[in-house]
Amino acid sequence: MILQSMLPRGLVAREAHGDVDAQLHPREAAQIARAVPKRQAEYATVRHLAREALGELGIDDAVLVKGEGGGVDWPRNVVGALTHCDGYRGAVVGYRMGVRTVGIDAEPHLPLPDKVLPTVSVESEREVLAARDADGLHWDRLLFCAKEATYKAWNPITGRWLGFEDAEITFGLESRTDDSAEGTFRSRILIDGRTTDGGPPVASFDGRWRITDGLIVTSIAEV
Ligand SMILES: CC(C)(COP(=O)(O)OP(=O)(O)OC[C@H]1O[C@@H](n2cnc3c(N)ncnc32)[C@H](O)[C@@H]1OP(=O)(O)O)[C@@H](O)C(=O)NCCC(=O)NCCS
Repeated sequence: MILQSMLPRGLVAREAHGDVDAQLHPREAAQIARAVPKRQAEYATVRHLAREALGELGIDDAVLVKGEGGGVDWPRNVVGALTHCDGYRGAVVGYRMGVRTVGIDAEPHLPLPDKVLPTVSVESEREVLAARDADGLHWDRLLFCAKEATYKAWNPITGRWLGFEDAEITFGLESRTDDSAEGTFRSRILIDGRTTDGGPPVASFDGRWRITDGLIVTSIAEV
């Protein structure tokens, strides 16, 4: 289990490394009916995982359709986030009274494709990357993964777009072995941080990252 240990108490995570044969609610099935089978399978699997996690909170049979902003319309009083990439599906949920917003993302632990870095980074991030000694970790992909988790935490409480140029990520490394590493990150928001959830503006999010089993996983849980 990669995700659960990256999260504060009160959040429940479920994950899988492939797809499961999961039942969808008719409204979910209608939403994904025109997608290709691979997309249908990942959509169904993360919802199965999210329903399992919601069950731990005492919430059964939740319908998890995507809302207009792209994120799930979670049950009232619940925050959550989903991610899927090759070899990984993850879901996190928790009660809103304990956690303001949550964002997770997963990526294969591989370099970013050519020419992508300039489009997903700000200059100061590229300077830090360029100054790093080669250490076997794909920091460029980790940067991308942290930015996507940032967007998933940001959008539900602001209702607004956040571009890759609108946040600056800095990383801390806590531990390293031959084939794994983990640490923290901070996403400093570079635009007006006003929110629509009744809470204070967002100046930054603090998150965690982990690299293991060929995967990068990032998480933000803002209390
Ligand atoms: C939305 C986005 C972050 C999703 O990331 P991804 O790596 O493509 O896809 P993942 O598999 O990790 O995550 C997909 C899940 O994200 C969730 N998601 C999509 N839009 C979302 C939003 N606006 N808010 C919260 N969650 C969202 C959905 O639950 C989706 O799963 P589903 O389609 O099965 O419901 C990405 O497609 C995107 O638009 N990025 C540009 C914005 C951005 O990252 N800015 C950087 C800010 S620093």
